Amino acid sequence: MAACGEPGKQRQEEVAAAAVVVVGSCMTDLVSLTARLPKIGETIHGHKFFIGFGGKGANQCVQAARLGAKTSMVCKVGKDSFGNDYIENLKQNGISTEFTYQTKDAATGAASIIVNDEGQNIIVIVAGANLLLNTEDLREAASVISRAKVMVCQLEITPATSLEALTMARNCGVKTLFNPAPAIADLAPQFYALSDVFCCNESEAEILTGLTVSSPEEAGKAALVLLRRGCQVVVITLGAEGCMMVSQTDPVPKHVHTEKVKAVDTTGAGDSFVGALAFYLAYHPHLSLEEMLQRSNRIAAVSVQTAGTQTSYPFKEDLPPTLF
Ligand SMILES: Nc1ncnc2c1ncn2[C@@H]1O[C@H](COP(=O)(O)OP(=O)(O)O)[C@@H](O)[C@H]1O
Ligand SMILES: *[C@@H]1O[C@H](CO)[C@@H](O)[C@H](O)[C@H]1NC(C)=O
Repeated sequence: MAACGEPGKQRQEEVAAAAVVVVGSCMTDLVSLTARLPKIGETIHGHKFFIGFGGKGANQCVQAARLGAKTSMVCKVGKDSFGNDYIENLKQNGISTEFTYQTKDAATGAASIIVNDEGQNIIVIVAGANLLLNTEDLREAASVISRAKVMVCQLEITPATSLEALTMARNCGVKTLFNPAPAIADLAPQFYALSDVFCCNESEAEILTGLTVSSPEEAGKAALVLLRRGCQVVVITLGAEGCMMVSQTDPVPKHVHTEKVKAVDTTGAGDSFVGALAFYLAYHPHLSLEEMLQRSNRIAAVSVQTAGTQTSYPFKEDLPPTLF
């Protein structure tokens, strides 16, 4: 069991601590655009190929960093060119990579994605090095974890590692923001108890509760079910409808509306939302939850209006000062 204040890696110089620490995934997206999806055994020509930076953990970290948060990414990539490029991408975004590990034992996580002209896709994800991030790695990072304001976790790494990260944060009084994505039906009960904020989308809420979630009203009911499992706050994102919120201190579900925008590419909208929420929890803790969610809605709305995942995430400089 992780206690707070365990000896971590000793530092030569005292640097300002990261306020937002993400313990999660990095994935390289390999995207091919084709007229139609290939059949089994078939080789077809596509008209465009590009490589993108993804993985829910890194996406959320990048969005928080672009809003001005001091961030640290605790994750594992391969000792390969994709891993080297990923570390460079994190640095370019001003994220600390002090605890971004590289392993020879697996390749950097990768998602092979084929998208046809109708926007339909087939995707194969190989989590690779992400699954090798372990509790020993977390212990080495104990000093950054214990000094953070907010820790963010998802489920694209080994669940036991996420659980240990959340436990370490909780024991140090660090606020936990948990995004149960991709969702699993039999999520361990400790995940709920360890979540100060539990944030998922409608399909994840369906998987976790077994309820149908296709309206704000149904999302409110699902949020109450999740709240009863022990989270302090539950947020369910609703695409263009904004999100629902409910908390132990105000257990009446509330719909946080947003201004609908015309979406160009919604990939990674949920990660933009979670990254923005992490920023507000760390840097504007005295705002009401509703106000933080309204602002997170507005930031995620910007991200759906241009193509790509991280490439669509706005910077502080591009946003109205009233959001800060
Ligand atoms: N068309 C839209 N107009 C305005 N905001 C949007 C739109 N689509 C998504 N958003 C914002 O992005 C957030 C996440 O979107 P959602 O579709 O729920 O997540 P996911 O990326 O997990 O599918 C929403 O809560 C909302 O704030
Ligand atoms: C919710 O997020 C998952 C990824 O975890 C995604 O596959 C799914 O399409 C999203 N659902 C909605 C309703 O946005």
